[in-house]
Amino acid sequence: MKTAFIGLGIMGGRMAANLLGAGYDLVVYNRTEDKATALLERGARWASSPAAAAAGVDVLITMLSTPEVVENLALGKEGFLGALKREAVWVDATTVNPSFSRRMAAAAQARGVRFLDAPVAGTKGPAEQATLTFLVGGDAEVITRCQPLFDVMGNRTVHVGGHGMGTSLKMVFNLLLGEAMQAFCEGMALGKALGIPRDTLLDTLLGSAVVAPFVSGKREMIRRDAYEAHFPLQWMHKDLHLATLTAYERGVALPAANAVKETYALAARHGLADKDFAAIYQFLAEGKAE
Ligand SMILES: NC(=O)c1ccc[n+]([C@@H]2O[C@H](COP(=O)([O-])OP(=O)(O)OC[C@H]3O[C@@H](n4cnc5c(N)ncnc54)[C@H](OP(=O)(O)O)[C@@H]3O)[C@@H](O)[C@H]2O)c1
Repeated sequence: MKTAFIGLGIMGGRMAANLLGAGYDLVVYNRTEDKATALLERGARWASSPAAAAAGVDVLITMLSTPEVVENLALGKEGFLGALKREAVWVDATTVNPSFSRRMAAAAQARGVRFLDAPVAGTKGPAEQATLTFLVGGDAEVITRCQPLFDVMGNRTVHVGGHGMGTSLKMVFNLLLGEAMQAFCEGMALGKALGIPRDTLLDTLLGSAVVAPFVSGKREMIRRDAYEAHFPLQWMHKDLHLATLTAYERGVALPAANAVKETYALAARHGLADKDFAAIYQFLAEGKAE
């Protein structure tokens, strides 16, 4: 199966490396070319544009930042969608909003291309260790065709429903992720103000019933105040924006999510956009960047 991968960031670079490791014939494109160096040394081929990446492949995977970037690379100048062959599959693994996924599915269908929205649950470590969960929207028959690829990059695939249903479930995941991180960091900020040592807070709160389990994975970042990005804060802000936009489209009220979203907006403006999203602890507790 000839495969193309577009978007070699924290997640995409590791997912593409796993495809290469499994022996897939892989062509790659990224805005910043040097992020492809390690993959090219291992046998991937470089495409000079999104359209060049699409030529002749059976499956093209995108793992980009935002809906705007996905749309530009799919449909803009030298976009890949018009260059894919009929019946090829475009798998968009980017975290985007469901109405956007449905619009891209329609744009693909108009060109005879099959589409899956397949965002992932899991972060940098699971991307490297191939233990991601794919949350997939689209036709079962197309998922079956792509299943070998999902199995190389992850260890669980959930077929949620039709187009836009994979990104629907992803909106729910990241809403909970963003809110739980803020709840923990507010507790830590209050504990700090009350004079409780940081280690005592971490030792007693983490692993207790009142804190989401994923926060334990952020322990060292918060303990050392060093937030090298596993999941960049700016993309958590984007995901909360997309979740609240989606709630608006569906007439759902999300009072807490809207407030939490603004914490990430303020922290990003404070110089923390490229840090891990756990850096809202630093923002809430200290009000200054590293
Ligand atoms: N990190 C996580 O834990 C995680 C987990 C699940 C889902 N996600 C989602 O996965 C997606 C990728 O996340 P990531 O953590 O891998 O982010 P990242 O490291 O920031 O990578 C973003 C990718 O998008 C590309 N890009 C950004 N702006 C662009 C533009 N204007 N034109 C062309 N390409 C552009 C980047 O290219 P350059 O290399 O040139 O900047 C890079 O390939 C996001 O939607 C994120 O929400 C992330």
